[in-house]
Amino acid sequence: MEELRQKYIAAIAEAADEGALEALRVQAVGKKGEVSLKMRELGKMSPEERQVAGPALNALKDEINSALAAKKTALADVALEARLRDEWLDVTLPARPVRRGTIHPISQVTDEVTAIFADMGFAVAEGPQVEDDWHNFDALNIPGHHPARAEMDTFYMARAEGDTRPPHVLRTHTSPVQIRSMMKHGAPIRIVCPGRVYRCDYDQTHTPMFHQVEGLAIGKDISMANLKWVLEEFFTAFFGTEVRTRFRASHFPFTEPSAEVDIQCSWEGGTVKVGEGDDWLEVLGSGMIHPKVLTAGNIDPVAWQGFAFGIGIDRLAMLKYGIPDLRAFFDSDLRWLRHYGFAALDVPTVHGGLSR
Ligand code: FA5
Ligand code: MG
Repeated sequence: MEELRQKYIAAIAEAADEGALEALRVQAVGKKGEVSLKMRELGKMSPEERQVAGPALNALKDEINSALAAKKTALADVALEARLRDEWLDVTLPARPVRRGTIHPISQVTDEVTAIFADMGFAVAEGPQVEDDWHNFDALNIPGHHPARAEMDTFYMARAEGDTRPPHVLRTHTSPVQIRSMMKHGAPIRIVCPGRVYRCDYDQTHTPMFHQVEGLAIGKDISMANLKWVLEEFFTAFFGTEVRTRFRASHFPFTEPSAEVDIQCSWEGGTVKVGEGDDWLEVLGSGMIHPKVLTAGNIDPVAWQGFAFGIGIDRLAMLKYGIPDLRAFFDSDLRWLRHYGFAALDVPTVHGGLSR
């Protein structure tokens, strides 16, 4: 018995891992283990021998079992220690400055614009960028033969061979959202719809993908005066300084009368500045909604009337933040993004001031 004791206690102390420990357990106190086999021999002993051997064997079994348990805990502790050493982290270290991304000026200006119009009671609506021919053109009083279709330099989607329906387009303006909103909500209505639009255009103030925000207000007695007031309120809130605007008579098939608005600016010294100079940059188109457009949107043009406008968001960003070339907005040049980008927590609100 003493031999067994010494053999197993030593072996358990040496065991390198849980697997070795389990093998020792089976070998010593498992069903056919050495100690268990000895216990079976008790039956063949005389009662006197058994009185001595029985308790001794039980004590040996207990001793081995506790040695196994103690070693198991010790092995687990060692493993935990190793893990703690490997995964060590000093949580008291000061935070290191990490280079973060910035908010793109277009995202910033989109948020500024929607915050201002939300403050004036406009809700935000959205529509698809791949638009059908009817919403982008026909419903806006631009029939198939109309020259405005060519003027818009439209990108057409491909149709399956043999499909003779007019192709879908990448929407050329946000105006189709007017139609979708009229059909969905009816009158009265007051919404703005910011989003991406596409035209085959490319120079310092034109890019093939750009951003507009559509505005739409329909009521019983909305007039051109309301349109002009809303836009002037908007410019004051957005630029925060005196800017000179020019309402210029224009033409859109979906408004009558129509006006475009330009903002005074200078292009001197490799930058663009508002409030000075003798140049003008067009920022929006607008007008009173054409009766045919109200009808297409299921709104009775005898009972209702309203105004609409479509502002170029990218142009607003150029003017407000002095960015002279629109094409750089979409070059993904990190130096440009770091220079013109905004801190992630710089959320524009009307009461908190709109930007840095
Ligand atoms: C329109 O797109 C009309 N849908 C606007 C409108 C809406 C009129 C509602 C009446 C009622 P226009 O093509 O002028 O109009 O574009 C509107 C503005 O988008 C322009 O004033 C300009 O600021 C901007 N814009 C136009 N093309 C580009 C371009 N390629 N890149 C950047 N901005 C552009
Ligand atoms: Mg225009």
